Amino acid sequence: MTFDGMWADLHPVGRDARSGGYRRFAWTGEDAALREWFTGEAGARGLELTADRAGNLWAWWGDPDADGPGLVLGSHLDSVPDGGAFDGPLGVVSALAAVDALRARGWTPGRPLGIAVFADEEGARFGVACAGSRIITGALDPDRARSLTDADGTTVAEAMAAAGLDPHHVGPDAEALRRVGAFVELHVEQGRALVDDPGGPPVGVASAIWPHGRWRLDLRGRADHAGTTRLADRDDPMLHLAEAVIAARRAAGEHDALATIGKLRVEPNGVNAIPSRVTAWLDARGPAEADVRSVVAAVGAAAGTEPVEESWTGATAFDAGLRDRLAGLLAAPVLPTGAGHDAGILSAAGIPTAMLFVRNPTGVSHSPQEHADPEDCHRGVDALARVVEELG
Ligand code: GLV
Ligand code: MN
Ligand code: MN
Repeated sequence: MTFDGMWADLHPVGRDARSGGYRRFAWTGEDAALREWFTGEAGARGLELTADRAGNLWAWWGDPDADGPGLVLGSHLDSVPDGGAFDGPLGVVSALAAVDALRARGWTPGRPLGIAVFADEEGARFGVACAGSRIITGALDPDRARSLTDADGTTVAEAMAAAGLDPHHVGPDAEALRRVGAFVELHVEQGRALVDDPGGPPVGVASAIWPHGRWRLDLRGRADHAGTTRLADRDDPMLHLAEAVIAARRAAGEHDALATIGKLRVEPNGVNAIPSRVTAWLDARGPAEADVRSVVAAVGAAAGTEPVEESWTGATAFDAGLRDRLAGLLAAPVLPTGAGHDAGILSAAGIPTAMLFVRNPTGVSHSPQEHADPEDCHRGVDALARVVEELG
């Protein structure tokens, strides 16, 4: 299967030899290599490549302006820090392999077929997840998008310009969206539903994405000497962080939600200095928005600061007709997820959207342990090809 060759090509790109995880961040050299790889794969198949106003890539088989709207497959190629190989690339490589499989059996599309690669899905560098799909749908203001900064203070505008894009062009893109009649994103499963069903099918269909968001906690204190400052005289923001971490765990348990503080910035970050400032990022999700909001409020109260909302995505139910049709076609179970996806952003913008999940034997994601067996990846490609035959 052509899947294996593409998978091998991507293996070294952005891989950290020490952890075995991937560091593929938006608008970096690794990102450029991945975009170049996709451009090459699209060209080799005679697909017409375009970039939209957020730098998302679209490769078309057929003309979506003349004969659209079309059916679009795809996902993203960027990663979280030390992410797995599958979150994102599995959907892109599977889409290309599905095209190859369909062509090998002489199938031609009844309507244009596209493959999309969304930019900066993880928000690992600039903080806002699904930035590419949010920009083109208008869910992320272009001025805010351009001015987001990474840990070094580089703005999105500067990073995009360095990558050869015109940041002034960034904004909602009705033309790109008009071409999309339906979107199907195949993704590695990021939980245990499929693997915990021994003998069950390797592919599931998504029902919904939980409401979720990211908040920043700005904790201020006073830098001082670790060896000479009496405990009573300290103003140590790290103590507020500790309260926040414990509160996040406790409130999540109480509200049937999930909460994580996984990213920190400590200033000045010296072992023998009381910090002057701690910045922490809270990720909170759950089946019900009210519970997620309660968790965030509890964390803010424990930390003694008002959490600053950096992004929010409401509950997303995927198109029910499409979901049932694909679940029936593939005899696949229907699963909710707590993970965010570009498919969710497009769905919220009114595009009929579905997701397929491929079994993950470790149940682990956003980690080098994330996995899918080659046979399951191939069955995912088969499932995607069947979906295209059904919808295309
Ligand atoms: C994206 O992977 C997210 O849900 O954080
Ligand atoms: Mn992810
Ligand atoms: Mn993903």
